[in-house]
Amino acid sequence: MSNEIEKLSGFVVVTGASSGIGLELARLAAKDGCDLLLVADRDLSAGKAACEAAGAKSVRTVECDLATQSGVDDVMKAIDVTQVDALIANAGHGQGHAFFDQEWHEIAHVIDTNVKGTVSLVHKIGKRMRDRNAGRILVTGSVAGHMPGPYQLVYNSTKAFIDDFCVGLHNELKETNVVVTCLLPGITDTNFFKRADMEDTRAGQSDSKSDPADVAKDGYDALLEGDTQVVSGFMNKIQTQFADILPDNVVAEMHRRLAIPGGGK
Ligand SMILES: NC(=O)c1ccc[n+]([C@@H]2O[C@H](COP(=O)([O-])OP(=O)(O)OC[C@H]3O[C@@H](n4cnc5c(N)ncnc54)[C@H](OP(=O)(O)O)[C@@H]3O)[C@@H](O)[C@H]2O)c1
Repeated sequence: MSNEIEKLSGFVVVTGASSGIGLELARLAAKDGCDLLLVADRDLSAGKAACEAAGAKSVRTVECDLATQSGVDDVMKAIDVTQVDALIANAGHGQGHAFFDQEWHEIAHVIDTNVKGTVSLVHKIGKRMRDRNAGRILVTGSVAGHMPGPYQLVYNSTKAFIDDFCVGLHNELKETNVVVTCLLPGITDTNFFKRADMEDTRAGQSDSKSDPADVAKDGYDALLEGDTQVVSGFMNKIQTQFADILPDNVVAEMHRRLAIPGGGK
């Protein structure tokens, strides 16, 4: 049974839509003429204007912290009983530096945003989709989920959760018309490194960062095709396969060099 479709239609919820990969994903849904609900924890006016300019049928916004229950509740209140045709659960952020140099509230915010907030929205909205046997869910994981991540330890572990969670959920739903796809970006040119305080690292200073528009297109196309997951970018595909076969200690050492503070100088 092919789950391939030409384009998205109807009502699409996009989290993390104020910048980077999420803004580009929202722009693609706008080009398909969807009704949009954009979610982020800071100013969404630019995202709203960009999606209106790209042809969205309508654009509403919710500014909330998805690391909190009240943030998730705000999104569900804004959706109310409206049928969600696609959920793009992309919001996430990292945290650089050694694990014991991080403050607990920062660590908890990464876990609560990337795992609890994301999975809570997938559960609430995905269950409605399963009950009516229709809908699509794109979740932004990461190639980092395939690597033990010294100096970005908790972040990589949250993405390991998300990467596996999506493949498992896709399988659970394989006899339904509900599709779950995971997008695994590599190092991408967004606000991510600034927010994670990793601009002085080799990853943060990499001059071969992916373009967020290309990464978004890879994820969007994979969702339309009904794929389980997509690693965006040829070199990232190779890197992820190596990370899966090399001993974990070797991969951890490779990640250490990429993420150690000051390593970019
Ligand atoms: N950039 C990379 O190298 C890379 C690689 C692999 C995976 N990713 C993943 O790609 C996704 C998008 O990140 P990006 O690279 O596009 O970075 P970005 O430009 O910083 O975008 C992150 C988005 O998520 C939102 N967000 C973060 N924490 C939130 C929270 N607690 N509540 C609500 N919204 C929140 C941000 O909102 P505000 O800006 O308004 O705070 C922003 O809209 C993330 O899941 C990230 O982990 C990024």
